Amino acid sequence: MIGLPRGVQDIMPSEVKIWQFIEKTAREIFESYNYQEIRTPIFEFTELFTKGTGETTDIVIKEMYTFLDKKGRSLTLRPEGTPGVVRAFIMNKIYNLNIPWKVYYIGPMFRYERPQAGRYRQFHQLGVELLGIKDPIADFEIIKIAVEFLKNLNLANIEVEINSLGCQKCRPIYRKALMDYFASFKHELSEIDKERLERNPLRLLDSKEEKMIEIKEKAPSALDYICGECQEHFEKLKNYLNISNIPYKINPKLVRGLDYYTRTVFEITTDILGAQNAIVGGGRYDNLVEIYGGPPIPGLGFALGIERLILLLSKIDLDLSLDEKKLIYLAIIDQNSNNFIIDLSEKLIEKKYRIEIGDPSLPLKNHLKIANRLKAELVIFIDSLIKEEKIKVKKLKTGEERILNIYNLVSELEIML
Ligand code: HAM
Repeated sequence: MIGLPRGVQDIMPSEVKIWQFIEKTAREIFESYNYQEIRTPIFEFTELFTKGTGETTDIVIKEMYTFLDKKGRSLTLRPEGTPGVVRAFIMNKIYNLNIPWKVYYIGPMFRYERPQAGRYRQFHQLGVELLGIKDPIADFEIIKIAVEFLKNLNLANIEVEINSLGCQKCRPIYRKALMDYFASFKHELSEIDKERLERNPLRLLDSKEEKMIEIKEKAPSALDYICGECQEHFEKLKNYLNISNIPYKINPKLVRGLDYYTRTVFEITTDILGAQNAIVGGGRYDNLVEIYGGPPIPGLGFALGIERLILLLSKIDLDLSLDEKKLIYLAIIDQNSNNFIIDLSEKLIEKKYRIEIGDPSLPLKNHLKIANRLKAELVIFIDSLIKEEKIKVKKLKTGEERILNIYNLVSELEIML
């Protein structure tokens, strides 16, 4: 038997309802804030991610699914959605006529990580990106949308953590402070962390190495180094969050695992997920459009892991059968009733029922078994009674049986249901 590679999984029909429910809720909320769906390719040129996501990130250094195509071009399965969206923004010259630009996406992402609960190699993100607004009201809007989405799914115990990483002007000062601080512990750092110190000391705040936990505690905080403008931006964001009663915690060590962030970064966490606890991650990326060769247009967004969300929702009692159409099972016993069956099926579908056309080669008792297993509301027996223009119908829940006239069958069925 051929199995599956590690870290990927089927989403089986029995599980797909929750996916559809999440996607539907997301579309409703995102669209009510006037975001439109975008679908970008699953693979892109590798350079898009090395330049954008960043050469110093774990994603680019060790987690990308990169391959050469038949002409020797380096392509990568997208590890995240932001770079593709920003590329599409620039390629389609949206900046000329259409900003602010608000889009959302739903789709698979790929990272070569060590699989565990809530962490996969193919996983799915719901993401939102906003290009063209510098004002902190946009930062607020993005956080608000994420919180509102989770609230709509009845998720309790979530915590919003925010931080500011400064801008091009003040980041170098913070970077230098971090470098000086961590350099004094150089002999205690692991090889990986020594490399991080050279390439991008901010990454050290993200380090999961045991020794680092203590060292990180006393490391300088970005908020002590950001410039006046960044400070003001952060204050205004906090003010918006206060006004709308979104509880948040300032986490001065929050840096996020991607290089493009400027100013606001945020995560939404929950204690239910343990170590892999960030369910939403996002922030501002005011230089990314320029990094890709576009004009200086600011951007920001967030993404949420659907598999992680489902892990959380499995702890909540969700009734997903609410808007499900009622199922009617057609047990075909008389083999000469094709016209009638086709006509009846069409009418039932038109009336918004679901139908299951039973396999005509089965004996009666098997039809009933299957109808019960499928939790059909009614079974319609298409048997010899049809010659008298009559049909037997059984309501499975009550066992009630009726003989109905074929001419007003559909309206009679409605009464029985
Ligand atoms: P990220 O923090 O790398 O950000 O990923 C966002 C979310 O995707 C995480 O919080 C988590 O729920 C989920 N996720 C990440 N890796 C995995 C995995 N291996 N298995 C399962 N779920 C995972 C981004 O990707 C940015 N593009 C977010 C963003 C959008 N920033 C601005 N705009």
